[in-house]
Amino acid sequence: MKTFYIETFGCQMNAHDSEKVVGTLLQSGYSQVGAPAQADLVLYNTCSIRDKAEQKVFSRLQQFKHEAGKGKVFGVLGCVAQQEGEAIFERAPHVSLVAGSASYTRLPEMLVQLEAGNRRVTGLKLDTEETFDTPFTRRENPHRAYITIIEGCDKACAYCVVPMTRGPERSRTSESVMREARTLADFGYAEVQLLGQNVNSYRDPSPAGWDFARLLAATGEIAGIRRVRFTTSHPRDFGKGIVDAIESNPVLCNHVHLPVQSGSTNVLNRMQRLYSRDDYMRRIEWMKNARREIAITTDIIVGFPGETEADFNETLHLADEVEYDSMFIFKYSKRPNTPALQYEDHIPEEEKTRRFMVLQERQRAIQIRRNARCVGSREQVHVEGYNMATQQWIGRTSQNKTLNFVDPELPSPSGDNTLAGQFTDVLVTRAGPNSLAGERVRP
Ligand code: SAH
Ligand code: SF4
Ligand code: F3S
Repeated sequence: MKTFYIETFGCQMNAHDSEKVVGTLLQSGYSQVGAPAQADLVLYNTCSIRDKAEQKVFSRLQQFKHEAGKGKVFGVLGCVAQQEGEAIFERAPHVSLVAGSASYTRLPEMLVQLEAGNRRVTGLKLDTEETFDTPFTRRENPHRAYITIIEGCDKACAYCVVPMTRGPERSRTSESVMREARTLADFGYAEVQLLGQNVNSYRDPSPAGWDFARLLAATGEIAGIRRVRFTTSHPRDFGKGIVDAIESNPVLCNHVHLPVQSGSTNVLNRMQRLYSRDDYMRRIEWMKNARREIAITTDIIVGFPGETEADFNETLHLADEVEYDSMFIFKYSKRPNTPALQYEDHIPEEEKTRRFMVLQERQRAIQIRRNARCVGSREQVHVEGYNMATQQWIGRTSQNKTLNFVDPELPSPSGDNTLAGQFTDVLVTRAGPNSLAGERVRP
């Protein structure tokens, strides 16, 4: 029996790609093992978004280098593979497979090559119309399923490698997305998450010609699906139709992740984000004025080249104004072949760190304030599992907040008796900066 091990880094797109890769390997007669030592084929599905992420795969490859030979084969997949290409064979000569996400449809052929003893197998073409749709996806989470709706990215943000590592935008037909969603509902998945680097620029290539809002609304109508999430939205392409859809169907989760990156129009222009602070705030207004309260989360880069103290202050003010429910903050990281690399006025590392901490502190206070407002309310959660350490069930609200709770009638899972995968109501009794806590209430 041939065995494989896979470790995945990076975003949800990568996590879902790995689920498809795993399914393809199982279909090709491989079985999955939990440690590189036991595997004939060791795969790393890599991320290149920041320098630290990229370094991880090379340290992993170093770590297990001594296990090469003895018939063990190493493969690098994902964004570092696409970015570094054949240079990986030079840097880590025990690697035999280098393939980017736009080539995974050819994975079965690449496996045949590896099995035949070819030690320089590549899948690096980016000029593709293809999307990686496979019926063999092996999903890790039994309750929440990812569905890719669009691959690649046609934007050109000055700091970002993704357009180079994932290629041009390719949307799946609405028919194939709907078919997959219906199949998942039949299997018992109650929650689906539509994925793309920029879901808002989804454009159905079939004559039906659906846009993203239409696809989102239609997914919310599928019998058996009780929650629909989506990520990520680019503000430029984020239309009012999305807010209208969320307003009119509670199955569509009241949470939007809308990365702003900076609160300064100057910086946004230099980032080539294609919107101003005002454009962004208009979209925030749509959400604030919606009939359902929509949770808003974001990504911010601090210390982009040329970011002045005044620019940074605008980001702080934006955070105050929007009052995000959660925020991912990143220190700008220089990336190969991106325009920002050539910019002048790179910010010293210590200053990036300072800005990071100032913003983090500010946002923490906002989250404490916002979450405190939930105390006393009754929330429906989708239960994810049980935390042995805290002896609480872990649930997630429609707004994507973690709500840990106790259930006096079922203090812990016993035998087949578990709440995991169920929907239940919880009274919120406490709130922290990053999560809520409460007690299950029965109707
Ligand atoms: N497609 C998504 C983002 C994908 S990358 C979007 O456009 O929103 C996720 C986040 O990583 C980005 O939102 C950005 O905040 C951050 N990021 C990307 N490149 C970066 C870089 N060079 N340095 C620091 N953060 C970066
Ligand atoms: Fe990167 Fe910008 Fe594309 Fe997002 S929209 S993946 S940040 S280039
Ligand atoms: Fe990383 Fe590639 Fe995702 S660079 S964030 S794994 S698209």
